[in-house]
Amino acid sequence: MARKLDVVFSDIEPGSALRAALAMTPSDVIGLVSRSKLRGRGGAGFPTGIKWDTARRHEGAEKYIVCNADEGEPGTFKDKNILERQTAKVLEGMAIGAYAIGASEGFIYLRGEYKYLVSDLARKIGEMKSQNLIGPDICHEKGFCFDIHIKLGSGSYVCGEETALLESLESRRGEPRNKPPYPAESGFLGRPTVVNNVETLSFVPHILLNGADWFQQFGTEKSTGSKLFSVSGDCGKPGIYEFEFGITIRELLKEIEADAGTKAVQIGGASGFCACADDFDKPICFEGIPTGGSIIIFNKSRSMFRVLKNFVEFFQEESCGQCVPCREGCSRMLEGIEKFEKGKGSSKTINDLLELSETMSLASKCGFGQSVPNSFRTIASKFKDEILSAGEGELWQS
Ligand SMILES: Cc1cc2nc3c(=O)[nH]c(=O)nc-3n(C[C@H](O)[C@H](O)[C@H](O)COP(=O)(O)O)c2cc1C
Repeated sequence: MARKLDVVFSDIEPGSALRAALAMTPSDVIGLVSRSKLRGRGGAGFPTGIKWDTARRHEGAEKYIVCNADEGEPGTFKDKNILERQTAKVLEGMAIGAYAIGASEGFIYLRGEYKYLVSDLARKIGEMKSQNLIGPDICHEKGFCFDIHIKLGSGSYVCGEETALLESLESRRGEPRNKPPYPAESGFLGRPTVVNNVETLSFVPHILLNGADWFQQFGTEKSTGSKLFSVSGDCGKPGIYEFEFGITIRELLKEIEADAGTKAVQIGGASGFCACADDFDKPICFEGIPTGGSIIIFNKSRSMFRVLKNFVEFFQEESCGQCVPCREGCSRMLEGIEKFEKGKGSSKTINDLLELSETMSLASKCGFGQSVPNSFRTIASKFKDEILSAGEGELWQS
């Protein structure tokens, strides 16, 4: 049975983790984060220690750390809560990262809809400056200076993708860059830049205070620690939960009081995977079913056709249009799905769309187009009958 934890929302003494970091060398801080096997909580699960080490090793007069608070994935709302309730801890995580890689400036890239958080964030940054936890000569450590700026997004989903985010941060249209080079090598203004998710940064102070072994005792071998889940949909107790990685879908469903009528669980939002009853004993973790945190529950009254159509409409609207496989692929996929509503869809239509999915996964420039097919493939294979009959039932109760 996976353990329910309370790490992210638990308080720490302000500045204590930063002081622990400053008592170590930057490379020892990175060594500790690497040994904890912390992986990014923004979705891709890249090892944080490796990312920090890459930025540290890369030459650059200036380096940056960016807190990715764009949180655009449908169904996720955990980062907003962390920023609201544990502001200082996230800022401290950024300062520790800055010390480790040698950055003197950082940015919080905040989802446009979270504009209401700006004044609180700015106030907390000011407070930490007066406590000598941000600003010049932090904790009286001569030469360690770090300031944080807030940049508001403008409502584009793709701007959560780290390179599109950096374009937006540089005041350009938010379109993904080619990778490599990765941001840790060449990011903001072409300089080494670490982009980390809010939740990832919130674990850093705990690792500094409690050690790598403590962190590793939770979760699985390849997915250490715990994870926040934003749970919504047909269940008795929607909300935010923290469980160690490896929790099975069934265990989670029990905890959130989803009833026996649960038909499907969308794990990882619109760009994630749809699980049906046959999958409920699978673990949620990077080596199992991965997620950035969005968990949406659908009961038997829902039409999985409508769910799928809703996701594809979202993608078609949000594709930045820069690369053909994604721009055209999203439109063709939506057209194909609409055929079923008009009674013109068949098994062949599904097969054609599966072929299109293959092209999108292989040829799209960024993770957006590459992940669009995830929900199509899983919903179309598990609920084929509902797609063929364009499903009765509703998408959502108003
Ligand atoms: C279309 C798209 C949207 C994304 N949106 C977010 C987001 O809102 N927040 C986030 O942290 N990562 C998002 N990511 C992942 C980022 O590109 C990046 O991997 C992440 O910020 C790195 O931080 P981490 O290593 O701490 O997870 C998105 C990726 C893609 C492809």
